[in-house]
Amino acid sequence: MGLKILQFGDVHLPLPPGALRSPEAWRPRRIPAIANYFLLRGRHYAAAGEKLDALRDFLRREGADWIFYAGDSVGMGLDAEFRAAAPRLTAVFREARCGTVAVPGNHDFYTYRSVGDFRRRMEAAGSHVLPGAPVVRFLAEDSAVVAFETARPHFFFWHSSGYLAPETRDALATLLDDPRLAGLERVFLLTHYPPDDDDPYHGFPDAKPLAEILANRPNLVFLHGHVHKVSRRTVSFGSAEVPVFCSGSLSKAGVESFWLHEIEEGRLLSRRGRWTGSAWTLDPPE
Ligand SMILES: [Fe+2]
Ligand SMILES: [Fe+2]
Repeated sequence: MGLKILQFGDVHLPLPPGALRSPEAWRPRRIPAIANYFLLRGRHYAAAGEKLDALRDFLRREGADWIFYAGDSVGMGLDAEFRAAAPRLTAVFREARCGTVAVPGNHDFYTYRSVGDFRRRMEAAGSHVLPGAPVVRFLAEDSAVVAFETARPHFFFWHSSGYLAPETRDALATLLDDPRLAGLERVFLLTHYPPDDDDPYHGFPDAKPLAEILANRPNLVFLHGHVHKVSRRTVSFGSAEVPVFCSGSLSKAGVESFWLHEIEEGRLLSRRGRWTGSAWTLDPPE
């Protein structure tokens, strides 16, 4: 039997009752986010909890060896949001037969304080997100995953771009050069931001230094979130044509999605998850 991997993210669970009672909620960076939440954004993600819980039922039916979580669990990075979200996410992560690899998104690292709150609440619930440095997990069937952080907190509300820390960049280069990874059939890379959008406000301005590290490595598959529109495309890094999968948003009304990747006899078959209104189904393999 092949290896099955569920890739999902951008759940953006709604604000739990009472979350805005904390003075922390009223920091300048959050005020436009709160207005946006009540005017527009909140409506799109109102049923996120139901969709996340239904993903658990889907996993029980379908089974998955690994879960790769692309981040963005909540909306404003408040401790009250993490307290509610962490056990719910962890319940889904536990359905993976072998394990879960999770990276934070920019909404998890919404403010400088959110970084610690997110890690603490996820750990208390029994899930670990990255400790900062890239993480490697060897999967069955001659493949591995390298997860690395690209999310960072920002001071101004109009900034939500990603970042490749110099130490992450160096560690990633060392890891990918290591013969134990370089010699594998397939190495998945998991992070929050797309590698091919260098928009300085909402994208990943460090796309170029990342591309230099990824150049000419024929065994990579890049998995990311952040963009709330599911996609599968090919990006050239030097001579390597790398498949890139964006999981889109699990919960945004009308565009709900995830990917279920299967490796069967060395081939990667990927099926998009689709929300029917009450349950998750799979499209045919692409
Ligand atoms: Fe998101
Ligand atoms: Fe994001």
